[in-house]
Amino acid sequence: MNKNFDRSIKSLSVLLGVFIALIAILFGGLLYLKQNPEALRNQANEGLVEISEENNDLITDGIHVATGFVDDEHLQVVIQNCTSCHSAKLVTQNRMSKEGWKATIKWMQETQNLWDLGQNEAKIVSYLAKNYAPKNQGRRAHIEVAEWYELK
Ligand code: HEC
Repeated sequence: MNKNFDRSIKSLSVLLGVFIALIAILFGGLLYLKQNPEALRNQANEGLVEISEENNDLITDGIHVATGFVDDEHLQVVIQNCTSCHSAKLVTQNRMSKEGWKATIKWMQETQNLWDLGQNEAKIVSYLAKNYAPKNQGRRAHIEVAEWYELK
């Protein structure tokens, strides 16, 4: 009886130890995330943490963490109108001119039930054309040839 009691006390304390360690890890992790928005963004990108009300407005390095949108004028209008049907990634992975963005919006309105954006359309297009413009595609750099050789 006494032995059994001893044993259960022992396993109980082991369990307690494990439990305390887990709590410590959890709190440590939370504390780390709280003080490290960069880490939070990476975790959010990997789908490891949910974006909550609390961290929804978080902006790090000019990026709105919850959506990945560039932080700029009219960001909120874009979030309100462009993230309810599809992921913001579908927007941010595209690069278009002003005309291109206008055409994409028109296409969504004609075929995907996108609503009339009213006065917001100009704001959205200007935000998109500024932050998601086509990247300059110059010619590639010259190839540096160290030594010519003759084909045989
Ligand atoms: C009413 C729903 C809806 C809303 C709101 C919406 N879209 Fe879309 N959008 C779609 C659908 C549906 C597709 C097609 C998705 C697919 O191909 O998987 C799409 C596709 C896209 C594409 C990809 C187009 C392509 O050629 O592949 C872009 C870019 C895009 N949307 C941008 C936006 C922007 C910017 C806004 C905000 C003005 C917006 N969307 C709001 C429904 C919507």
